[in-house]
Amino acid sequence: MARRRPPVRLGCLLVVGTALLALVPAAAAQSVNRAAIDGLNRQLLYVALPLTLFVELTLVYAIYRFHDNDDPEPTVDDPALETTWTAATAVILVFVGVSAYFVMGNPYVTPAAAGSADATAPDQADDLTVEVVAYQWGWQFTYPEANVTTRDELVVPVDRDVRLRMTSRDVIHSLFVPKLGVKQDVFPTQETVARTRATETGEYTLYCTELCGSGHSRMDGTVRVVNGSDYEEWLAARE
Ligand code: CUA
Repeated sequence: MARRRPPVRLGCLLVVGTALLALVPAAAAQSVNRAAIDGLNRQLLYVALPLTLFVELTLVYAIYRFHDNDDPEPTVDDPALETTWTAATAVILVFVGVSAYFVMGNPYVTPAAAGSADATAPDQADDLTVEVVAYQWGWQFTYPEANVTTRDELVVPVDRDVRLRMTSRDVIHSLFVPKLGVKQDVFPTQETVARTRATETGEYTLYCTELCGSGHSRMDGTVRVVNGSDYEEWLAARE
């Protein structure tokens, strides 16, 4: 009997571990994008958690209850049960799809592309626009209103909608700021748009996340989120 214990113990460990996951406190998001993505993750976690517990507990029970059953009965057809689990799975998949769709439709996660009819949408007309040029291997940020250009450092005011109009000078790159939940491919001869509103001041690392040559791993930069007056001062000092 004693040698049958480990699988049961392992099962209990899994169940407890999964339950502890839900207790991890939600850290405050640093941007509206990040808040939307974190919210989706939490929503899906709450759905996944009871399912995981159900499956693991069933498994642990089956191991414990039938471990010395040397003559198992064959499974019998049960159309009602099969219909139920198929429908339940469909409901869960629809829930996951709809939740993800709402985050994808968020105007910060998927901003109106430049040149499209929505580019002048009233809610995006007041965005602070920064023109981004990616190249092998660095980032150039231009503030058109102030005629200021920086390299590898993007400075933006907190609590303001920021619109990054991006293009590449050579190959495909991809702008990724994990802490702000911003990720968008950057193409040559084509413009893509990333959009965010940072809600916490601080320094965040920006990476290129598309393999773009031997300097790819060094193609990073800093996003500095500062308060409004610090931003104006910083900009004025460079004009
Ligand atoms: Cu640019 Cu990798």
